[in-house]
Amino acid sequence: MQVAVRRMRADEWEAARAACIDAFDEPGIPELLDILHSSWGWDDELAFVAARGDEVVALVLFTPCFVDAPDRVVPVLVLSPVGVCRRLQRQGVGDALVRFALAELERTRPEPAVFLEGIPSYYPRFGFRPGAELGFAPPSPRIPAAAFMVYPLPAYDASVRGNLVYADAFWRADAVGLRE
Ligand SMILES: CC(C)(COP(=O)(O)OP(=O)(O)OC[C@H]1O[C@@H](n2cnc3c(N)ncnc32)[C@H](O)[C@@H]1OP(=O)(O)O)[C@@H](O)C(=O)NCCC(=O)NCCS
Repeated sequence: MQVAVRRMRADEWEAARAACIDAFDEPGIPELLDILHSSWGWDDELAFVAARGDEVVALVLFTPCFVDAPDRVVPVLVLSPVGVCRRLQRQGVGDALVRFALAELERTRPEPAVFLEGIPSYYPRFGFRPGAELGFAPPSPRIPAAAFMVYPLPAYDASVRGNLVYADAFWRADAVGLRE
């Protein structure tokens, strides 16, 4: 599947939002996207899309969060959500988009790590590792250990460890972990 992967332009938000909502088809996703988009941490530099011609077909967002390390508070990033419109799933679009976004973050960002909670079988291909392996704890006990993953960026060193603290947007959207 030939797609262009790049940073999102500000005028592409509605199309990118629609692609991501289509990807999940879950009731909480529109609210999460809207809260993230209007939150203090929103940064156009942290939104990436895949496009087929003029059509935006996938979106991945990163949000500034924190690690409560023993000696300081460390700004980090959280990947959430990533979605490929349903008709183009499983054709390599998500793979290309996430790889591009991580490479751009490696090149440009000061944060030492990217975290996510997600499908344990999908993200290791990009270099994500279980958070506990590097001394991180999830922001909620409702996140299964296998789903809590971290991707170290160039600024990472072993002094960065501790609890991940999510930005308020994830709590306001009740988009943390699994509910009963
Ligand atoms: C998950 C998602 C972003 C992956 O993007 P995609 O373009 O469909 O996936 P790709 O074609 O790049 O997948 C590459 C590989 O991941 C695997 N994969 C894709 N979706 C998967 C899933 N939900 N669970 C496990 N593996 C998955 C594919 O089988 C493929 O493996 P292969 O290369 O060995 O065949 C996309 O399917 C999607 O939007 N899903 C709905 C929303 C969602 O679940 N988002 C992620 C929440 S953590």
